[in-house]
Amino acid sequence: MPLVTTTEMFKKAYDGGYAVGAFNVNNMEIVQGITEAAGELRSPVILQVSKGARAYANHNYLMKMVEAAVLENPEIPIALHLDHGDSFELCKSCIDGGFTSVMIDMSSKPFEENIAITRQVVEYAHAHGVVVEAELGTLEGVEDEVVVEAGQASYTRPEEVEEFVTRTGCDSLAIAIGTSHGAYKFRPEQCTRNEKGILVPPPLRFDVLEEVSKRLPGFPIVLHGSSSVPQEFVAMVNEYGGNMPDAIGIPEEQLRKAATLSVCKINIDSDIRLAMTAHVRKHLAENPSHFDPRQYLKPARQAVKDMVAHKMVHVLGSNDKI
Ligand code: G3H
Ligand code: 13P
Ligand code: ZN
Repeated sequence: MPLVTTTEMFKKAYDGGYAVGAFNVNNMEIVQGITEAAGELRSPVILQVSKGARAYANHNYLMKMVEAAVLENPEIPIALHLDHGDSFELCKSCIDGGFTSVMIDMSSKPFEENIAITRQVVEYAHAHGVVVEAELGTLEGVEDEVVVEAGQASYTRPEEVEEFVTRTGCDSLAIAIGTSHGAYKFRPEQCTRNEKGILVPPPLRFDVLEEVSKRLPGFPIVLHGSSSVPQEFVAMVNEYGGNMPDAIGIPEEQLRKAATLSVCKINIDSDIRLAMTAHVRKHLAENPSHFDPRQYLKPARQAVKDMVAHKMVHVLGSNDKI
């Protein structure tokens, strides 16, 4: 099948109590790792491209790699999505260039401005058969050039969501309930420690999610910043010459719970970066004479595939849902 929009995917996910993974792609090994896992597990999947990814890899290369993944996995519903579009022009360029879904992220702007620009993108996107994700509330962390400092983030205000969705006509809504971008989601002082002394992050605000869902019955909700920052990857990075102290993510059980509720799309990027970097570092440390990139990118690609497969089965619940 050709690239699809997320409309059908989200309807099935909402009704079925699972979520579709949206994984960021920047190169061939990442595209292959994700889509091989989706193919073997018969899972729908969203491949998402940030402005930074487009600047790094070039629109045409990304497009052709995604098209190759579609050819290799003809039975798997695959959507191609712009992550954190920051202007109408960027969204238009991706819509014109073959994406099936775009995000317009005006969450840092005042409510009326967010509505106006989101509405403009929705009108253009819908006229071209493309769906739109918008955002209300702000997450901590780094996305492209935008850095939201700790303490500057704000949870989504449930009382705003109906008006926002009605006036913009967006197809899905990203909300802020305590997730955050990057591999350092919480400072140690924001966490407690369990009996083994391991940092335990503050729980997600499921009360906010519940209130939003009550006001938008049947409407697909998106969670950004949803890497779990697996501690085995952090330990591997640190063991083989890296330095990532206090890297911490969102516990997988909480994401699993969100996936059973109204959350239909869960964004994961940092866990891909960690899986690849940990395995490249390990391989090169154990094989100092290797200099063929295929030698270290092969285990890195396998690590992406294994990590994504784990998410599909144990976090998203999207396996066997095509
Ligand atoms: O939310 C941000 C994503 O992780 C994309 O990151 O802008 O560095 O490609 P990037
Ligand atoms: P992570 O940094 O938690 O992987 O979040 C990715 C994301 O939200 C992409 O939009
Ligand atoms: Zn994001």
